[in-house]
Amino acid sequence: MKRVYLDHSATTPLAPEVFEAMRLFLTEAFGNASSIHGFGREAKRALEESRERIARHIGASFDEVYFNSGGTESDNHALTGVFLAARESGKNHVVISAIEHHAVLETAEHLKSLGARLTVLPVDRLGRVALAAAGKALDADTCLISVMHANNEVGTIQAIEEIGALARAKGILVHSDAVQSLGKLPIDVRSLPVDVLSFSAHKIYGPKGIGATYIRKGTKIESLLRGGAQESKRRAGTENVAGAVGFARAVELCYTILETESPRLGNLRQELLARIQKQFPDLVVNGDFTHSLPNILSVSFDSSLRKLDGDALIMGMDLRGVAVTSGSACTSGSLQASHVLLAMGRDMQTARATVRFSLGRSTTREEIAYAAEAFCDVVKSVEAAQR
Ligand SMILES: Cc1ncc(COP(=O)(O)O)c(C=O)c1O
Repeated sequence: MKRVYLDHSATTPLAPEVFEAMRLFLTEAFGNASSIHGFGREAKRALEESRERIARHIGASFDEVYFNSGGTESDNHALTGVFLAARESGKNHVVISAIEHHAVLETAEHLKSLGARLTVLPVDRLGRVALAAAGKALDADTCLISVMHANNEVGTIQAIEEIGALARAKGILVHSDAVQSLGKLPIDVRSLPVDVLSFSAHKIYGPKGIGATYIRKGTKIESLLRGGAQESKRRAGTENVAGAVGFARAVELCYTILETESPRLGNLRQELLARIQKQFPDLVVNGDFTHSLPNILSVSFDSSLRKLDGDALIMGMDLRGVAVTSGSACTSGSLQASHVLLAMGRDMQTARATVRFSLGRSTTREEIAYAAEAFCDVVKSVEAAQR
């Protein structure tokens, strides 16, 4: 059976160049970067070079990039670390958007038990945080605003420049989850008004289990993990040197091909949408299509027009060898409609009748044609079965 992977926002395969770069550090050069002997120094050198290479691509200084285990840890560190550091000065208000990843949402909820006051900003139907709401929410007690750079479900890119400027004017720190935007959008912290950014390697053809946090010099942030003095005491634990080397190579590759890859993905997405819309003109497209990641296409079926279950669509696609994701998540054993789609004003049933296609480096026109045809067939058969 033909297999088509259209779930690149969930994870990506390791790029062959990344694997090659990592190989040495998974075999002969296995030293602990904290050891002072030759093996350790070799590892340390590779680690610091990787840090420098990632920093260069985001306009940061090498000592503003801290390696960790991935996006979830980075989001946890950003919110908890900034909150704990600010709490001493009496600032306990944290602001996030309603469409954040669970790593931010759950952490923000947890901060309430540590004394935080939490404000969750609404979004409009395209998934954009309203600037007016952000401006109104920020007050004298606010220590942090966290708004993701680009959304993982619908691809909408947020106005971080404006949101950051609003916060900066009030002396409030800004965190942005850039897990989905790193390597897909240019990021330059010299002009972007942010203090903390979260990254993950496995979304950009790097290895799983490694990520990084950008922390602007001078930002007060407590560390989550205690133990050794690694990562300038900001993240204890033996460093994943091979992971860091792979991560740096992955970042470089993404930015090397960005100018051609971005429009290529955008065109493929457009073709996918056009093929599906031809058969289903009433299709709802989620997100801000004019300002979104080029590789994400999230579509729903309006519940007032068609009765469809997203998970039945996913299973049907899987049976045809196409990997995509639905607009719901399994939380505590029950299927929940996506909080992102609900925040964007979709009703529960429409949110559940959603499929996200996320294209990637290996996606071809032929695959898009196959996936579109499979999707249209699956929709018709699921609809017929549910009638
Ligand atoms: C926007 C966003 N933030 C955070 C994460 C978590 O990253 P990781 O899988 O590296 O923990 C993801 C991954 O799904 C994501 O899409």
